[in-house]
Amino acid sequence: MMIDTIKWVDGLGAEAAGAAKVMILDQRLLPHAVSYVECTDYRQVVDCIKTLAIRGAPAIGIAAAMGIALAANAIEAAGVEEFTTKLSPAIDDFLNSRPTAVNIQWAAERIGRLIQDNDNLPISAIKDKIAKEGVVILNEDIEINKAIGRLGAELIKDGDTVLTHCNAGALATGGYGTATAPIRTAVAQGKRVSVIADETRPVLQGARLTAWELMQDNIPVTLIPDNAAGELMRRGEIDLCIVGTDRTVRNGDVANKIGTYTVAVLAKEHGIPFYVAAPLSSIDFTLSTGGQIPIEERSSDEVTNIFGRCEIAPKGVAVRNIAFDITPAKYITLILTEKGAFKPEDIHTLAPKGQKGKQ
Ligand code: MRU
Repeated sequence: MMIDTIKWVDGLGAEAAGAAKVMILDQRLLPHAVSYVECTDYRQVVDCIKTLAIRGAPAIGIAAAMGIALAANAIEAAGVEEFTTKLSPAIDDFLNSRPTAVNIQWAAERIGRLIQDNDNLPISAIKDKIAKEGVVILNEDIEINKAIGRLGAELIKDGDTVLTHCNAGALATGGYGTATAPIRTAVAQGKRVSVIADETRPVLQGARLTAWELMQDNIPVTLIPDNAAGELMRRGEIDLCIVGTDRTVRNGDVANKIGTYTVAVLAKEHGIPFYVAAPLSSIDFTLSTGGQIPIEERSSDEVTNIFGRCEIAPKGVAVRNIAFDITPAKYITLILTEKGAFKPEDIHTLAPKGQKGKQ
């Protein structure tokens, strides 16, 4: 499926800068409608991230990079110092939009380095480079996912059933997906693979997005309520689990959509391998353990109300809407990256030389 999650349109080249747009597939409307939000101002991109029009760690990293490019285009500055100062509130808006996925920080740091490395160029040329970088990050992301797919497909046998949680598919990335990459590659290799998609309460990324995108590609998918995973495992109907991650840290602990931890514990109890697909852009080597990861809590409406259409709980009930959980490393069989498959306790070997984790 090559439906674009996000696109940079026009504006490549300083002259066209004013016309640049970021087109974001509005995932709030899926599976009912395929429609794009046209963003000409970076604040619209921030809003798309906060309201889950675009979601999934790599996808929001790409959105942040492209959004920063829109903000950069709108700046008038005489020199690089003034340019950087004027750009920083926009970068902060992205950093504060969703706290758990490290990809936004990763993208912002990458753009920061790009500006530093080119501070001898005219501002118009720097703006041009930032705009191009967003597109480079998007294209790289697809290639990285394909590399994870080649590696992960070796873990899937003909006839296997794979359980996944949330959506770590094409819609959560530049394309191809992270957790779905091994499945897509295995299918392309001619293996018969079927997928069990957890519906993923409360925002239903599994039901609305994973089921939809796999059906678009004729990959067999069966939707289950989240609380059915254990019973399917007990019946021997799940061969392996693959999930994505919003932030994986040095000791191999993994933050991902709430409910991932439950699936991992169940998988261990039933002797089922539990794999995490983690591009390096989602690994934070500055943190030592999962407990240090900031975990987003979202509005209670997502739990008490079905998309603004129907109240399903008594008015005023107390709610916890924790958007992500931490799966401790001991429940994870392997972490699949574009640099190879790692036991969680070995993931720190990919850290940049000399970098230490926070204590
Ligand atoms: O709240 P979301 O939909 O952004 O949560 C997404 C997930 O938890 C994904 O599994 C994760 O970002 C990895 S996407 C490749």
